[in-house]
Amino acid sequence: MKVIDLVTKSRSYRRFDQSVQIPEQEMKEWIEAARRAHSGANLQPLRYHLTTDKAEADTLFPLLKWAGYLTDWDGPEEGERPTAYVTVLRDTEVKDVASKTDAGIAMQTIMLSAVEKGYGGCIFASINRKEWARVIGLSDRYEILFVMALGAPVEEVKLEEAADKDDIKYYRDENQVHHVPKRTVSDLLV
Ligand SMILES: Cc1cc2nc3c(=O)[nH]c(=O)nc-3n(C[C@H](O)[C@H](O)[C@H](O)COP(=O)(O)O)c2cc1C
Repeated sequence: MKVIDLVTKSRSYRRFDQSVQIPEQEMKEWIEAARRAHSGANLQPLRYHLTTDKAEADTLFPLLKWAGYLTDWDGPEEGERPTAYVTVLRDTEVKDVASKTDAGIAMQTIMLSAVEKGYGGCIFASINRKEWARVIGLSDRYEILFVMALGAPVEEVKLEEAADKDDIKYYRDENQVHHVPKRTVSDLLV
């Protein structure tokens, strides 16, 4: 698939077929891809915790804040929840020059790898980090930067051009199709 097609397909998905489990071995291949990506000063400060265990996934689920713009939706129902998580960590024993930039590059690499295999997911910054760290048994050495919730998507997500260039809020229509307005190239070029 061409890069632009893969990026177009790689939307933030928030509803999944919860009967589909992602094999941990497959997720390790996505980390292998991320491992090869750019890193500021090549410091490689990122570490990852993989969750595929159902009990752990169930405990982690309520610790995320889902889709802030969808004010009447609290996140996916049982049956449509993520089946796997990647917790993106920073090793505090490695010098920090650009760990969040590194995390962005790594997460895009992981997400595109997941999409290539028919999966999808959503990146989270709104996390109950303290509780998340406790559930995954994290030591103080690691800081939680982001979480990726993953699974087999069941929702339709459409990209559209932001009609009013200041209205970038995503929304769901009456058929539960999720729309994501993106600024146009001419709005981006300075
Ligand atoms: C750094 C970052 C943090 C995000 N945090 C959250 C979050 O806490 N909760 C959520 O539902 N979505 C979160 N998202 C998903 C964005 O809402 C989503 O990327 C945006 O609406 C555009 O949709 P798209 O990913 O399909 O292009 C986050 C995305 C990024 C890149």
